[in-house]
Amino acid sequence: MSKLPIGVFDSGIGGTSIWKEIQALLPKENSIYLADSKNAPYGEKSSEEILGLSIKNTEYLLNHNCKLIVVACNTATTNAIDYLRKTYKVPFIGIEPAIKPAALNSRSKSVGVLATKGTLTSSLFHSTSLNHGEGIEIVEQQGKGLVELIESGEVGNEKTRQLLQEYLRPMLDKGIDYLVLGCTHYPYLIPLLKELLPESVKIIDSGEAVARQTKSILEQHGILNLSKVNGKHQFYTNSNVSVLKRFLDDHRNSVKVAYLDF
Ligand code: DGL
Repeated sequence: MSKLPIGVFDSGIGGTSIWKEIQALLPKENSIYLADSKNAPYGEKSSEEILGLSIKNTEYLLNHNCKLIVVACNTATTNAIDYLRKTYKVPFIGIEPAIKPAALNSRSKSVGVLATKGTLTSSLFHSTSLNHGEGIEIVEQQGKGLVELIESGEVGNEKTRQLLQEYLRPMLDKGIDYLVLGCTHYPYLIPLLKELLPESVKIIDSGEAVARQTKSILEQHGILNLSKVNGKHQFYTNSNVSVLKRFLDDHRNSVKVAYLDF
């Protein structure tokens, strides 16, 4: 059982930012990654559509014997993880905007959250904000258009810069000192964000926390891979293979990357 792969899915290439954290912490684990780029962005779809796509991805991974599934997408987590956990037997790890550490550490008591419409309008996001945001102003901003730009490989161009500038302005006007990245695509914008934000604003994403949680759940279930050799990894996209490869950086030479119509 422990040798079975971890399944990871996202609406596209964004979840590779999470996969890299998991790989760094758990190099012996095998994995299968699904980039559902054909259906990106999930963030502009209805909750029912997001649930349907999350079920499709989950069932593919379960049919390929995954022992645990990482929903490497805030939008899919906030709209579908309760259903997935109730319906399937394997453990699920989800990702949500890291409001808690930002709220705990904020001095200005103003925290920005950049996420998709699907995440910001979900009831899970609302309850997390209520639970952890007491006494804090949470400045929500939809990152409309950003996922599409990243999916086309455009992380540093002028259009992306302009959109980010537009989205950061209302948050900066409200004096945020933390910016929470609530979408797994957005860590790829960090170099640009650092150029655009004053040094006093800290950027938080949840990737490392997801990797730590994955390790802890594997241990709790007694299914951590204790092999001495490094894991094998399969990446599938139902869109552009070369874009997915680009986001895998140096890993691209040691993993399998292929097109799959799922
Ligand atoms: N990576 C997804 C997330 O974390 C992107 C959502 C989308 O496709 O809009 O929310």
